[in-house]
Amino acid sequence: MNLPEHIAIIMDGNGRWAKKRLLPRMMGHRKGSENLKKLINDCDALGLKHITFYAFSTENWKRSEEEVSNLMDLLREYLNDHIKNEKDNNFKIDFIGDMSRLAPDIQEKMLLVKELYSSHKGIFVHIAMNYGSRDEITRAVRKIADEVAAGEISPSEITEKTITDRLDTQGVPDPELLIRTSGEQRLSNFLMWQLAYSEFYFTDKLWPDFRIEDLMKAVESFNGRDRRFGGRNEVK
Ligand code: FPP
Repeated sequence: MNLPEHIAIIMDGNGRWAKKRLLPRMMGHRKGSENLKKLINDCDALGLKHITFYAFSTENWKRSEEEVSNLMDLLREYLNDHIKNEKDNNFKIDFIGDMSRLAPDIQEKMLLVKELYSSHKGIFVHIAMNYGSRDEITRAVRKIADEVAAGEISPSEITEKTITDRLDTQGVPDPELLIRTSGEQRLSNFLMWQLAYSEFYFTDKLWPDFRIEDLMKAVESFNGRDRRFGGRNEVK
């Protein structure tokens, strides 16, 4: 089986998972966070190189104050757990998105975890927090405009690579496969530049129920796809 080098996942359906069990939404997010930890270890064991998870979008601030604050507390817990159990984890981790809007203590913990995990040898985990593709591209364009204004590059020198290199995902290969759970079939402002040629896989499984076996089904489906990147595969 051909394993993609990088898989991106939109973790959707925590709220519905909780609702089905008459539990508060927060319990769905908590289960979702536990599932995230488990799936990362399973993907590491599988030998995957990169995995990116959509944890909080630039649009998620529109949710109730209570839900946003609960999600931020869950993130604190998640980061604390990573700081405490650093020795038991083999993966590397970083964060994409605009960190500047997150609470200062969260930003500090993110930097610390990234640093602590930087010498690890396993899968590279990328967590999207306050991430939106339009926001990411806007920030990249602003950087380029600043460089042009400073005379460091000229507009005619701007290529796709100039943009790619100024995105939060700089240096990371594009995901070959995108998975979205819970039956929704939207991109929701996730990695729009990076997913230009990726295969999409949608499953009805809600995120807290999504296991490594489900990920393998997505990989099987990926293996059956004819990837042409806009060209033609000649019949030999
Ligand atoms: C979508 O489910 C999920 C989110 C908006 C949050 C994703 C967060 C986690 C999986 C856990 C937290 C992770 C970290 C790193 C702290 P939804 O609430 O939109 O579900 P619904 O569509 O069923 O209501």
